[in-house]
Amino acid sequence: MAVLTHLLFLAVRILAFPLYLLNFLGLWNGICKQIPYFLVRFISMYHKQMASHKRELFSSLQEHASPSGELSLLELGCGTGANFRFYPPGCRVTCVDPNPNFEKFLIKSIAENRHVQFERFVVAAGEDMHPVADGSMDVVVCTLVLCSVENQERILQEACRVLRGGGKFFFCFKLNVSLPGIWKFFY
Ligand SMILES: C[S@@+](CC[C@H](N)C(=O)[O-])C[C@H]1O[C@@H](n2cnc3c(N)ncnc32)[C@H](O)[C@@H]1O
Repeated sequence: MAVLTHLLFLAVRILAFPLYLLNFLGLWNGICKQIPYFLVRFISMYHKQMASHKRELFSSLQEHASPSGELSLLELGCGTGANFRFYPPGCRVTCVDPNPNFEKFLIKSIAENRHVQFERFVVAAGEDMHPVADGSMDVVVCTLVLCSVENQERILQEACRVLRGGGKFFFCFKLNVSLPGIWKFFY
C-alpha cells in the first residue's frame, strides 16, 4: 500500500511539473486570470451534485442571526458567488477571496440573487482577513476551500476572530489532495 501511495504521489508530481515550470518562467499569472472561467464551468457541474447537501447545510443559517434579526455572513473563498442562492433573504454578505479576478463573476451573482444584501468584496487570503473587524460576523461560510489552502489553522483562527461570541462556522469540503504548494497555483 505504501509503495502504491508513493507511486501515485510521483505520478501526480510528474503531472503537476508543467505548473511549477510555468510559474518558474513567470507565465503562470496570465493563465491564472482564466481560472475563474474554468471554475464557472466546474462549479455548475459541482452544484448539481452538491445542491441538496448545501440546501440542507444552509437551511439553519437564519437561526444564527443576531438578536436584532440581522444576519451578517462572511463567505471565505467565495469564488464566483455560487452559494448566494442558498442564503436567506436579507442576509448581509461580505466576500473574501485572494483572487481579484472573481469580482466580475460576483457582480453577476449579486445581480441574479437580489434577495441577499451584498456588503463588499475583500481581496485577501483567509489566513489574514485584517480588513474585517473582530466579532463583526454572525456566520462564516467556507465551502470547497479548506482542502486547498496553505494554512488551515490560521484560517480557523481568523474565522474565530471575525465571528461574534456564539457565531457559527459553516464549512464543507470534498477534495482531499495534499501536495504541498500545488493548489496555490490555481487561486
Ligand atoms: C473551489 S473554489 C470554491 C468556491 C466557493 N466557495 C464554492 O463553494 O463554490 C475555492 C475558492 O477558494 C479560494 N481560495 C484559495 N485559497 C484561499 C485562501 N487561502 N483563503 C481564502 N480563499 C482561498 C479560491 O480563490 C477559490 O475562489
